[in-house]
Amino acid sequence: MRIGIIGAGNIGCTLAKKFSAAGHGVMLANSRGPESIKELASNLGAVAVTVHDAVKDVDALIIAIPEDRIPQLPKGLLANIPPHFPVVDTGNYYPGVRDEVIPEIDAGLVESQWVELQLGCPVIKVFNNIMSVSLAEKGRVQGDPERIALPVSGDDSEAKQTMIQLVNDAGLMVWMQVVS
Ligand SMILES: NC(=O)c1ccc[n+]([C@@H]2O[C@H](COP(=O)([O-])OP(=O)(O)OC[C@H]3O[C@@H](n4cnc5c(N)ncnc54)[C@H](OP(=O)(O)O)[C@@H]3O)[C@@H](O)[C@H]2O)c1
Repeated sequence: MRIGIIGAGNIGCTLAKKFSAAGHGVMLANSRGPESIKELASNLGAVAVTVHDAVKDVDALIIAIPEDRIPQLPKGLLANIPPHFPVVDTGNYYPGVRDEVIPEIDAGLVESQWVELQLGCPVIKVFNNIMSVSLAEKGRVQGDPERIALPVSGDDSEAKQTMIQLVNDAGLMVWMQVVS
């Protein structure tokens, strides 16, 4: 697959390394532009691109930036994605610790639903509940009894199936598919 990753921090870089080691093409973007992560991306087996190019001609997009930065992504970024295209939200909301307060979430809106409203498309929630260090170090091959599991949550079965494959490629198994 060709995978776009927006966010070149702990989670984005760990996933870039895992997916490229599994044979996927990985396009990695951040907010400061490809020049700022050219060497980093190359060391991970990925290609540094702009945010717009991370969305072009890819089979899945992973958004791994702090939750409160989602509204800063370019407007209309995902306007032309095909049906069942997986857009992954790895984010967690940390109000007052890292993130600015998001009143809608504080009032009870589910985080991923708030992300969907910002992006204008459905999202799959995965890789949000494992620390990047565990993600990097605890992957095991299929059948290994030490393999750990992750939930994959979302409404689109086809998009979820793509992400289940990528969770498997990251050396983790799917514990359950959450249907909302
Ligand atoms: N760290 C973990 O173990 C972990 C585990 C599970 C889930 N998560 C969640 O995953 C998300 C990312 O966490 P992280 O620890 O990987 O963050 P991080 O290390 O702080 O990295 C954040 C990345 O996002 C980029 N970014 C910020 N705003 C952007 C924008 N508007 N457009 C494009 N790129 C932007 C930053 O690029 P610049 O440097 O160019 O700004 C940076 O590369 C968070 O919501 C976090 O809660 C983290």
